[in-house]
Amino acid sequence: MTKSMKQTRLVTIKHDKLVEQFKVVELDDWKKVADALARLIEPGFIVALSGPLGAGKTTLTQYLAALLGAPKRAISPTFALMRIYNVPRTTYDVRRRGSKSDVRNSAKRTFPSGLSLRVEDSEADIRRLVHVDAYRIEDEKDLVVLDLDEELSEPGTVVLIEWPENARSWLKKYAKQTVQVMIELI
Ligand SMILES: Nc1ncnc2c1ncn2[C@@H]1O[C@H](COP(=O)(O)OP(=O)(O)OP(=O)(O)O)[C@@H](O)[C@H]1O
Ligand SMILES: [Mg+2]
Repeated sequence: MTKSMKQTRLVTIKHDKLVEQFKVVELDDWKKVADALARLIEPGFIVALSGPLGAGKTTLTQYLAALLGAPKRAISPTFALMRIYNVPRTTYDVRRRGSKSDVRNSAKRTFPSGLSLRVEDSEADIRRLVHVDAYRIEDEKDLVVLDLDEELSEPGTVVLIEWPENARSWLKKYAKQTVQVMIELI
């Protein structure tokens, strides 16, 4: 046996100038990736999950949902284009997540005068994850049905999208608030 039975995944998280990389071997290694992601995202963000079939995009989403405290639910074996995980308010406290947390737990508000300030607000917590699998989207017009702009504007929402290459023009509008997660099988 020359090759290990276990497939190693190299996971790269990118947002602005920040780049973090993780090696995922065991299933539970997704926890540290989910944790890094949880520190980075805030309501109104999109997580673009790219990587080949079976890379672990759905698995990472489930680890993130679990980390944020979403109740476990049976995964429907039938194909679902979109699944929503509700995150209870109390189980995951961003303030306990280390030094960056004070900033994370506030929301940037723009006032009518153009003034832009961060406002301390518990509403800045993530309350729902909208998980979209765009694998079967061939024509981006079909995405309209999912009303993703509306979903994203719901308070406390983060949208995670698998196969972001099938939603390129929608994602363009949100480049600044998009975190890229790239999974490579190595
Ligand atoms: N580190 C790992 N070790 C072992 N198995 C893993 C690991 N990561 C993911 N898997 C398994 O690989 C399989 C495929 O994972 P997953 O469904 O998350 O991939 P995906 O990227 O969402 O694929 P698709 O593009 O088909 O949606 C699952 O059975 C999952 O449990
Ligand atoms: Mg998947």
